[in-house]
Amino acid sequence: MEIEAKRWGFRGKQELNAASASTVRGYLNLLMGNINKDNSSSVIRLGHGDPSHFPSFKTTPAAEDAIVDALRSAKHNCYAPSAGVLPARRAIADYLNRDLPCKLSPDDVYLTSGCTQAIEVVINVLSRPGANILLPRPGFPYYESRSAYNHLEVRHYDLLPEKGWEVDLDAVETIADENTVALVIINPGNPCGNVFSYEQLHKVAETARKLGILVISDEAYDNLAFGSTRYVPMRVLGSTVPVLTLGSISKRWIVPGWRLGWIVASDPNSILKKSGVIDSIAEFLNVSSDPATFIQAAIPQILENTKEDFFSKIISTLRECADICYNRIEEIPSLTCPKKPEGSMFVMVKLNLSMLEDINDDMDFCLKLVEEESVIVLPGIAVGLKNWLRITFAIEPSLLQEGLGRIKGFCQRHAKKQ
Ligand SMILES: Cc1ncc(COP(=O)(O)O)c(C=O)c1O
Repeated sequence: MEIEAKRWGFRGKQELNAASASTVRGYLNLLMGNINKDNSSSVIRLGHGDPSHFPSFKTTPAAEDAIVDALRSAKHNCYAPSAGVLPARRAIADYLNRDLPCKLSPDDVYLTSGCTQAIEVVINVLSRPGANILLPRPGFPYYESRSAYNHLEVRHYDLLPEKGWEVDLDAVETIADENTVALVIINPGNPCGNVFSYEQLHKVAETARKLGILVISDEAYDNLAFGSTRYVPMRVLGSTVPVLTLGSISKRWIVPGWRLGWIVASDPNSILKKSGVIDSIAEFLNVSSDPATFIQAAIPQILENTKEDFFSKIISTLRECADICYNRIEEIPSLTCPKKPEGSMFVMVKLNLSMLEDINDDMDFCLKLVEEESVIVLPGIAVGLKNWLRITFAIEPSLLQEGLGRIKGFCQRHAKKQ
């Protein structure tokens, strides 16, 4: 009785509500809640990008050995410097220096807890009252969440499906103003599975330069490109416009649980340095937590010892999966895929609702699909495009076939009678 009457001096934080409401995890949890327990079929998850459970996507023993060696050496049980241990920063600079006209130094590299923390750091550093940031639509909703949390205004530019998901650069120029701080691109693309050509990146760099804003290039899927467009990192254009590259080992090495990522500054004209952005990144890292020291310490060995064979096997499996996905979707009249994926682990598929009965929108489609077929795909609304779907093709090819077969059966069952 006395406890109920007491007024306590603490309460939850409202801002977190808005920031966490629209995460991919939030949508996936909602869908999981709709699984029909009486359905004996196993659940097939085409909703998120973590293929580490599947035999075809097992990481390389070279990476596992590097972790074991670092741990067993007992030399890395200590705290790490806030920007990361020097050998790892040097190894990442060397890794990223391939194909780069302007060489990176270890001082340009900051280690983070996955690419997720890299996003957190840059959004935090760039937020100031009245500022805004340009994000792609469709995109990766963590940017929206972090921006909401930091009160950074978001302005969306479109990726154009009819042009292979190119950036709508005219829109970029229209929505930017004197308070715009940066433009984010994701390359290779999540959720569209596109890879930007050098020409497109060049135009992005020229536009950003004209607007006086920096480019944040999310390369969480770096080198996961398997189509005809060659993957080129944005930082090759660092002398045109300052670039912050965000990356990690999560996707290329298929170890998202190891939580090792980076922020890399390509700033040959010292624009980021003079503006204080570089100092702010270092200062933010001083007041946040670091990736585990033994994981950091394993990085030089991971980057050096991973054989080309491993990368090419993963690329050829992804290509096979992308082909399966694209071809199976082509068989379904109520789904349209505007472009065959060339990179990352995802494809965007348009729902032709006029051909479906009893389906109101993308969320309804996904809720009924999971209930009837135990297949999870992400509604497009979760990534900014209503009445589209984001399908992950990075799973075991045989399971992917089965999952897409169930989607086809579902669409046939719900097809409008002519
Ligand atoms: C575009 C994009 N950026 C960043 C991340 C986060 O990467 P990490 O798992 O390294 O934190 C993801 C993860 O799915 C992603 O898709």
